[in-house]
Amino acid sequence: MTPRDVPVVAEIESESFPCPWPAEQFSECLRFPMFVCLAAFLEGHIVGYTIGMCEEEGTMHILDLATAIECRRRGCARALLHRLFDEARSRGIRTAYLEVRTRNAPARALYADEGFTQVEFLPNNYPTPPDDGLRLAVALCP
Ligand SMILES: CC(C)(COP(=O)(O)OP(=O)(O)OC[C@H]1O[C@@H](n2cnc3c(N)ncnc32)[C@H](O)[C@@H]1OP(=O)(O)O)[C@@H](O)C(=O)NCCC(=O)NCCS
Repeated sequence: MTPRDVPVVAEIESESFPCPWPAEQFSECLRFPMFVCLAAFLEGHIVGYTIGMCEEEGTMHILDLATAIECRRRGCARALLHRLFDEARSRGIRTAYLEVRTRNAPARALYADEGFTQVEFLPNNYPTPPDDGLRLAVALCP
């Protein structure tokens, strides 16, 4: 992802989440090497993105992942995750984790398929709309 990708990324973010990140938040992540910011392209157009934050503990916190509505179920999110895992491994990271809404069935199916398992239940983690959360983690084998 580069700064010129941010407007399209922010559009996909807006259509994907009830409380979307503002464009400035993506721009901010791009400024710091601890954030891995990836965009997926299909026929020259951005169709998805993900942001991972590398932590001192040797873990990666996946902060954001979304694909454009019209491009879903085409393997874009899975490809983004695999690319993110590769980058994490190259930085010596061995575990990735994230939070997901309990009602987010598509995301939960994707993460289960990618080997994530629940490490924590997060009651009332999301105010708008109200939902509990799950913290999921996966080991990144070398
Ligand atoms: C969740 C999300 C990122 C998935 O993106 P995607 O590009 O459609 O996912 P993929 O095509 O790579 O799907 C990979 C696998 O995930 C699972 N999956 C994805 N969407 C699914 C759905 N609607 N129902 C059931 N399983 C689904 C399937 O196992 C799928 O493999 P398959 O198509 O071979 O069956 C997308 O729906 C999205 O952007 N949602 C809104 C934002 C969001 O919720 N992000 C996650 C926050 S934690």
